[in-house]
Amino acid sequence: MQVAVTIAAAREAALRAGKAGLRVGLVPTMGALHPGHVALIEESRRLTDFTAVSIFVNPTQFGPGEDYDRYPRALAEDLRACEAAGADLVFHPSAEEMYPRGTAAATFVEVPALSRVFEGAIRPTHFRGVATVVLALFEILRPDVAVFGQKDFQQQALLRRMTADLHLATTIVTHPIVREPDGLAMSSRNVYLTPEQRRAALSLHQGLEAARLAVVAGEADADRVRRILRAPIESQKEATLDYAEVVDAETLGKLDHIETGRSAVALVAARFGTTRLIDNVRLTE
Ligand code: PAF
Repeated sequence: MQVAVTIAAAREAALRAGKAGLRVGLVPTMGALHPGHVALIEESRRLTDFTAVSIFVNPTQFGPGEDYDRYPRALAEDLRACEAAGADLVFHPSAEEMYPRGTAAATFVEVPALSRVFEGAIRPTHFRGVATVVLALFEILRPDVAVFGQKDFQQQALLRRMTADLHLATTIVTHPIVREPDGLAMSSRNVYLTPEQRRAALSLHQGLEAARLAVVAGEADADRVRRILRAPIESQKEATLDYAEVVDAETLGKLDHIETGRSAVALVAARFGTTRLIDNVRLTE
């Protein structure tokens, strides 16, 4: 496994793989890798011949006062995890390498239709930072396929839109959420939770599962599904609900009715102390 810290070295390694006829896969990450990330690397290896993993805590997707400085960083363990998962290349640039002129006056890419709601309403500059860094990574590594986790549902919807709107050659693959045995979605931020908050955070999965089962049983009224989704979370005193919504999976527009043939997803976000967690479930295929 090659480790590249410069754009030139990463570009050269991916280009060489492409020229050798290998299909290149990319798993963009911010490090602090957990089994959810390993599943993304495995998915990339299944779909392609050469897997690059980027490890970069991207400053432009954190707003003022957010956890950029304290975001978990664990490079040595991450490199071991990438090697064990069979990655071919790890790209681990510095912030100066990615933003040589600083972040304040950088060029940004925006997907306005999907970046102002939900996570974007709470974190107004988050998605332009995500879209910008992902586009830069696509340009550096020219992946045939890029694999993202379904946990960040809005992120993958927005990156699909960016890829379509800009006619990018990369195919976006969304991998299902990887959960702890008790149902909590794996997240690099779970390490911040106290034991009580960790217990309360299970209510996210409980609400989503109750909503999904209600739809399976024939409930089509989106407001009733929202109430079912919210109830377990609102009953936790450790939890502050930010949103619990039922939306179209592509446009993220709020739904009145859940219909077969239209992709619906339930999205939740809640704070447990200072830790914000998100989760989701598809309500229809
Ligand atoms: O999902 C993440 O970890 C980040 O938002 C991403 C896609 C690596 C961009 O920094």
